[in-house]
Amino acid sequence: MTNKAKSPDRYYLTTPIYYVNARPHLGHAYSTIVCDAIARRKRAMGIDTWFLTGTDEHGQKIERSAQLAGRTPAEFATAISAEFRGLWDRLGLTYDDFIRTTEERHKRGTQHLFAALRDKGYIYKGSYTGQYCVSDEAYVDGPPGTPCPDCGRITETVSEENYFFKLSAFERKLLEFYDANPGFMGPESTRREVISFVRSGLKDLSVSRTSFSWGIPVPGDEKHVIYVWLDALANYMTALGYGSDDPADKARFEKFWPADMHLIGKEISRFHCVYWPAFLMAAGLPLPRSVRANGWLLFDQGKMSKSRGNIVRADTVQEVLGADALRYFLLREIPFGQDGSFSFDALVQRYNGDLANGYGNLVSRVVNMVHKYFGGVLPEAGAETPAEATLRESAVAAIAAFGPAFDEMNFSEALKSLWTLVGDTDGYLTANAPWKRPADRPEAEHVALQARVLATAAEAIRIVTALVYPILPESAAKVWRQLGLGEIKDAAKNSFLNEVAWGGLKAGTRFEEPAPLFPRAEKDALERMQNLEDENNRSAIEAASKQEGADKAPAPRVGSVKPPTVADTNVISVKPPTAGGPRVGSVKPPTVSEVNAESVKPPTRGGPRDGSVKPPTVTAPMVGAVNPPTVESPTAAVEAPAAAAAPEAPAAAPTSPQITIDDFVKIDLRVAQILVAERVPKADKLLRLEVDLGYEKRQILAGIAQYYEPEKLVGRKIVIVANLAPRKMRGLESNGMLLAASLPDGAPVLAGFLEDVPLGARLK
Ligand code: MSP
Repeated sequence: MTNKAKSPDRYYLTTPIYYVNARPHLGHAYSTIVCDAIARRKRAMGIDTWFLTGTDEHGQKIERSAQLAGRTPAEFATAISAEFRGLWDRLGLTYDDFIRTTEERHKRGTQHLFAALRDKGYIYKGSYTGQYCVSDEAYVDGPPGTPCPDCGRITETVSEENYFFKLSAFERKLLEFYDANPGFMGPESTRREVISFVRSGLKDLSVSRTSFSWGIPVPGDEKHVIYVWLDALANYMTALGYGSDDPADKARFEKFWPADMHLIGKEISRFHCVYWPAFLMAAGLPLPRSVRANGWLLFDQGKMSKSRGNIVRADTVQEVLGADALRYFLLREIPFGQDGSFSFDALVQRYNGDLANGYGNLVSRVVNMVHKYFGGVLPEAGAETPAEATLRESAVAAIAAFGPAFDEMNFSEALKSLWTLVGDTDGYLTANAPWKRPADRPEAEHVALQARVLATAAEAIRIVTALVYPILPESAAKVWRQLGLGEIKDAAKNSFLNEVAWGGLKAGTRFEEPAPLFPRAEKDALERMQNLEDENNRSAIEAASKQEGADKAPAPRVGSVKPPTVADTNVISVKPPTAGGPRVGSVKPPTVSEVNAESVKPPTRGGPRDGSVKPPTVTAPMVGAVNPPTVESPTAAVEAPAAAAAPEAPAAAPTSPQITIDDFVKIDLRVAQILVAERVPKADKLLRLEVDLGYEKRQILAGIAQYYEPEKLVGRKIVIVANLAPRKMRGLESNGMLLAASLPDGAPVLAGFLEDVPLGARLK
């Protein structure tokens, strides 16, 4: 089977649809910005383009996040979906449609697809007992307790009567398809992974669930909901009108399907390159022409993600440097397909180097001089000298290199070639110095030189601006106006990118007044961005803490409500103070310090007051930042359970820095129950625990093996720090930290309660 040939003057591209359990961050913005740049270029080439994005709103993960936030899944999904859409609008992204999987059109289309697959005999009923990763909404092979191969979280055992899709029937067909369509998926690493996954054998896939209800009902058997990935993938067609009888919908679907490109993150290639084509083959529908995977945006060495708590928001960058700066950075800095690190430092450097001092400065010099020397009217260039010929050749080379590189999604190289032209133009200006008349150069000759140099430089700028428009739309629009060319959007509508050639800027064109493009970012830009992130996290956490325990509380900033499913190390022990006399009458709890499984970190003394306790969702130093918090709030003093468990000991005046109640609420302490406890091979101190928080289960590695028999721990209710970044130990991911009192000899005593406390209850 090959992809259906489609008219080259149409182009349909999609982003992944985003889960609504987390507020948008730069990682999400990345895929959407890339699609936006492509869509703008296609349109400016006269191609009838359809750019789809949206939100993925069903599934157990969303249901649980909503529950935790005390809202219905529908309310919760609506709030977060609006955050995504609002951000795309603030960033000026030109999507043509935004689909929500909770919309009626999607429900209808997805049910239509399910029914088509069933009618064609590719869906049958069976029963499934196995492991399921709620976080990734994926089935996982292996015995109970198997961690998810993608995220490392412990899978849940599900046992259900399900509908199955005959994926096994497509093994050979998929391999043949990949062979016949070598351009179907990329980059090469994705292609290799996918092919080897399929070669290793495909099992039938469970495509319905009965254990929760937040989904699209299976047509005719409503106690089942359709598996979220089948539901989610269908969006690419339902948004066009698949499954609708309306003639307009039918026409749109006919016109744009199959998609020319699904742009996705690399971790979801299996769903897009294996399941999706198999569903389509089974339904007898044309397959997408390509799937392209972007790498991950890393921050502080980890994939930027809510669960790691290391996110940066696109708004922050936009507010300080502008949306174009963000677009430029993401496309220039990260070779598409590879992982790339994000840092404010690197961003500011690129911004100042390439935009403020590079392109921006060049435009401002030339436009200013045209105003100064020619009253704002572009002069006739006159006869070309070797210097102009060289610059023209450089422009021709940039034009030749940019398009193919961009179209192969090699944005970084495309921009590099364009910036060679920026650099050459700068050099040309400096070499010819139209602002300086040597004493021996006659006036008329100097004016001719000024005219030639400025007209030539302005033409080079026009070319850079036309080509860079899809990547720097706002700035290109400003430059276009300054060059007296009017609205670049209108030019784009007239397919101007098909006609970029040297010599388009005509003498006599009246330039507009110069206007600043990229004001240089001074030192405070970094600080401002960091402060914006901190402020945002503070308010998110405040909202979360208000929401906790108060159903009547106002709507929280929803994405922030679910405690990140992360943790750093394994045990927080509440240490008895080690020196000095008791603070008589004081209700201050002992200092909380962190006991790592493998190492015992001494508490930091006298560190900065708030620098030391950063909110869990912060961007910059995170994990170390929570180390070691001192619990000083009155609430904590009264309620800290482990304080009661701590043995009598001489108390010392706390020497750790004070924190405020705001700092304390950043630590998400929760009641959990131990379900599984076992030793970790070759690690004397470590126990592997699976704990139940009521709203989710997770794996925690705890350095308590020398003090607790694993069998005796099963069933015990404990307290964990629920919002520390995950951490790998001995190849296993630890997603939490236990609270324990530390005896003078270092032995931990796990915190617990006399009364029965529900799982997931928060300690405040
Ligand atoms: N809902 C599914 C996709 C269904 S598509 C039919 C999903 N959602 S997601 O919100 O978890 O991720 C959406 C996209 O954002 C993915 O492509 C993912 O790779 C991308 N990113 C999330 N964090 C990212 C980074 N830190 N860096 C780059 N992309 C990232 O998966």
